Amino acid sequence: MRTTYCGLVSEALMDQTVTLMGWAHRRRDHGGVIFIDLRDREGLVQIVCDPDRPEMFKTAEGVRGEFCLKVVGKVRARPAGTENANLVSGKVEVLCHELEVLNASVTPPFQLDDDNLSETVRLTHRVLDLRRPAMQKNLMLRYRVAMEVRKFLDANGFVDIETPMLTKSTPEGARDYLVPSRVHDGQFFALPQSPQLFKQLLMVAGFDRYYQITKCFRDEDLRADRQPEFTQIDIETSFLTEEEIRAMFEGMIRTVFKNAIGVELPVYPVMSYADAMFKYGSDKPDLRVKLQFTELTEVMKDVDFKVFSTPATTPGGRVVALRVPGGGEMSRGEIDGYTEFVKIYGAKGLAWVKVNDVAKGREGLQSPIVKNLHDAALAEILARTGACNGDLIFFGADKAKVVNDAIGALRIKIGHSEFGKSHGLFDDVWAPLWVVDFPMFEHDEEEDRWNAVHHPFTSPKDGHENLMDTDPGACIAKAYDMVLNGWELGGGSIRIHRAEVQSKVFDALKITPEDAQVKFGFLLDALQYGAPPHGGLAFGLDRLVTLMTKAESIRDVIAFPKTQRAQCLLTGAPSLVDEKQLRELHIRLRNPQATA
Ligand code: AMO
Ligand code: AMP
Repeated sequence: MRTTYCGLVSEALMDQTVTLMGWAHRRRDHGGVIFIDLRDREGLVQIVCDPDRPEMFKTAEGVRGEFCLKVVGKVRARPAGTENANLVSGKVEVLCHELEVLNASVTPPFQLDDDNLSETVRLTHRVLDLRRPAMQKNLMLRYRVAMEVRKFLDANGFVDIETPMLTKSTPEGARDYLVPSRVHDGQFFALPQSPQLFKQLLMVAGFDRYYQITKCFRDEDLRADRQPEFTQIDIETSFLTEEEIRAMFEGMIRTVFKNAIGVELPVYPVMSYADAMFKYGSDKPDLRVKLQFTELTEVMKDVDFKVFSTPATTPGGRVVALRVPGGGEMSRGEIDGYTEFVKIYGAKGLAWVKVNDVAKGREGLQSPIVKNLHDAALAEILARTGACNGDLIFFGADKAKVVNDAIGALRIKIGHSEFGKSHGLFDDVWAPLWVVDFPMFEHDEEEDRWNAVHHPFTSPKDGHENLMDTDPGACIAKAYDMVLNGWELGGGSIRIHRAEVQSKVFDALKITPEDAQVKFGFLLDALQYGAPPHGGLAFGLDRLVTLMTKAESIRDVIAFPKTQRAQCLLTGAPSLVDEKQLRELHIRLRNPQATA
């Protein structure tokens, strides 16, 4: 029906007659001439409707926003001074000869170029929202990225194999979405939290290199970087070491960035989990922010200030400083604002010191807490932080987790603030890294038990097998995360391929052999038939594309996402169902009002 896309009309087509299909983005009536910006997925072109073709002009007068139009016309140069450098078609316009309304539109609930729409409006009218050029660009890029991933994996011998959606609960640690079985009264499928166990089975089955771009389902609290259903680039391989896997997939992400958005990523630094927590209080540090923790736990053991000395002398406690160069100019109001902010993460306060004049020692410091610290402690703070005149030093003192969460978040908050950007505390670059050597287990204080940090099929480091009995907290895993600009982009591990190591892990996790058999028996059985050494990882495709587009939320790169409250505003899901459906599924509701 058409000769080219609206957004591709350029000087190359000068003086040619084109036939275009698209939507009326804007219509401007300039008394005598009507301009229509015609839009399709490739962009906009300006259509000029002159009154010297009365029939066509009459049609143009009736055109409104979002009408679907056919335009036949001649490409000509725009008059000097009216070019638009932002458009491919910015130097030309199309003089309309023939205009046909292919379909009228009712008045849209919002202007497509309104940048201040609420997310509720956008998600309710998602079809119109998706027509917006920014959304078209995001989803086109998402496609490009997926294609580049497929090309890379195909070239490296990876085979796309589908795994079931109706399955048994998998061990990623979130809540499952359940699907009732009609055929088996009282029984449920779980939607997969990831294809983890199936991809391991495919390795035992000898496929050697597997991948899949697939949906995963997790019923967890949602944030800007989380959706209840999201897409993983899921990968597993046999006979590659941890280092080989990291090298290959660093290469994949670098290739994807280059081919999809023309960005050369730097070579990834490799940082241990312990180091990341020590310096940044986070296992996904945003290395664009030029601030680091200074460890003070030892220094604060003997000060006469309980806020610091108690955590410093309590096992599991931590005291750190965060030096903010130039922070001396922050107002009390700003400091109070940050004090409120860290409370979100459980901090009980935020002690601070303004460094007016280092040379003057105690006298050169301004702070509500220096009176509580002896000279040696003050000197050590200044030396360790490397503080200069005009700096501000914040302090966190509590259980290590609270300090890491609170001061880690403060570090990001300050780095990303206007203050941080104007004081050189933030580098606007791509900052990827690998975080490696994760602990195998983390201790659950409430239940006094060990949980797997990654998942229970992750292999311990060579030589750490026996630590599982003696000191689980010290046992390091062959697990790795890829982090980019403070987001966990992907993660994986080398798996356990021998039954005796697997049973030790289950022992440490207090999973009895009977329980293990019920939950993962099919995997344990498979491991007995000469399972190969294998490992892999999974990337969050939604997160990858969000970072590449610099979108604010993962929802901006998903065609039909759920809200923060796990609803689809477009279709109204989830929704009530009728009694007959429930009966077939052998389900009676606890709240009988809640049926359709
Ligand atoms: P993991 O649970 O770390 O590992 O998930 C891998 C990657 O998936 C993305 N991701 C999410 N993206 C959006 N919304 C969510 N709710 C969400 N949850 C996770 C992240 C994360 O890095 N089976 C293992 C992988 C393996 O060991 O091979 C797994 O699922 O980008
Ligand atoms: P207080 O003696 O409780 O009034 O606290 C003195 C200073 O220490 C105040 O600036 C508090 O914000 C700060 N503060 C209190 N608790 C902590 C904590 N756990 N970590 C860091 N600073 C704290």
